[in-house]
Amino acid sequence: MENTIYVDNSATTAVSEKALEAMLPYFRENYGNPSSVHSRGQEAQRALENSRRTVARAIGAYNNEIYFTSGGTESDNWALNAVCELKRDKGRHIISTAIEHNAVLKTCEKLQKRGLEVTLLKPDKYGQITAEQLKQNIRSDTILVSIMTANNVVGTILPIKELCDTAHKAGIVFHTDAVQAVSHIPVNVRTLGVDLLSMSAHKFHGPKGVGALFSKLSLLPPPYLTGGGQEKGCRSGTENIPGIVGMAAAIKDGTENLPENIRKITANRDKLIENVIKIPGAYLTGDPVNRLPGLASFIFEGIEQAVFIVNKLNEHGICASSGSACSASSKEASHVLAAMGYDEGISFGTLRISLSEYNTEEEIDTIINKLPLIIAEIRSENRM
Ligand SMILES: Cc1ncc(COP(=O)(O)O)c(C=O)c1O
Repeated sequence: MENTIYVDNSATTAVSEKALEAMLPYFRENYGNPSSVHSRGQEAQRALENSRRTVARAIGAYNNEIYFTSGGTESDNWALNAVCELKRDKGRHIISTAIEHNAVLKTCEKLQKRGLEVTLLKPDKYGQITAEQLKQNIRSDTILVSIMTANNVVGTILPIKELCDTAHKAGIVFHTDAVQAVSHIPVNVRTLGVDLLSMSAHKFHGPKGVGALFSKLSLLPPPYLTGGGQEKGCRSGTENIPGIVGMAAAIKDGTENLPENIRKITANRDKLIENVIKIPGAYLTGDPVNRLPGLASFIFEGIEQAVFIVNKLNEHGICASSGSACSASSKEASHVLAAMGYDEGISFGTLRISLSEYNTEEEIDTIINKLPLIIAEIRSENRM
């Protein structure tokens, strides 16, 4: 494990020292329940509210616009269900995109089964969606637009401000899944103008199983989980205090060091891209310019299953992925490439290398040296 090169940071990241240190006391010393009135409880309550303030500040929100959840999936599910419930008298039509994470796509499918209509916008070959395209699909009964800030398979960053303005001009609520974007690129809810935003701690060096939903003040999300009435009565369940404290420490660290991290990660990513595309028949997928600092994804002619490359890289101690983690060994990764217009054969074949600030230039050099041989080896095996 020690010598492993980990370049699957879009799947999950290592918990940072700062996040871990911040969390530890909340497991054994300050383990109170924030709903308890005694001192231990109140200590936990203070930690909860301090964390809420830190998370809010990191994305330009007010404290009481942040609801802690169990992660990106729950935030996405909640956001979509909440708006459909709130706006059910106004209409039954939702617009999203064909490249969303399944946390959004499967929720759309479920809502469809309940009688809502869903339009999934198809991106161009770079994974981009335009404001004009959105405008053309808006109907008088559209109640929600949900479009991700950055794609988790190809790394394309979408023009959220323009898309959000377009939705607002038609009086429609706008949600964005910013799970891959928060703490990776500047994300400010006021600059973007979004009404709801999902995020997840384990994508930015926080712990797993904790995230948040931003929902603007005027939009109180109806409860998705009912019970003890935590989180302003909107999300019941005893709060995951160690996780929430870890999330706050991670986002604080990430946003304070964002410019420096972006500079370092982008330099490594660009070196990687520059060299990988020199391999004959290798192509970069996603937007060549508007892309996440840490994400590079490639297809290789003649290799239809990127999982072969991932397995060989693994044999060499390199942990990468063939698309999204939840679908690494299945066909799932293909829905994004298929929507971008790639042939079925190719859409199984994306190799995703996702970097964090912990990756060194030496690690990138190792990948650059090993990948051409691995690709050649797989191609020759395919020919046999
Ligand atoms: C874009 C996007 N949305 C949602 C999720 C789900 O987040 P979580 O793992 O916190 O449930 C992920 C995780 O891969 C993601 O990449």
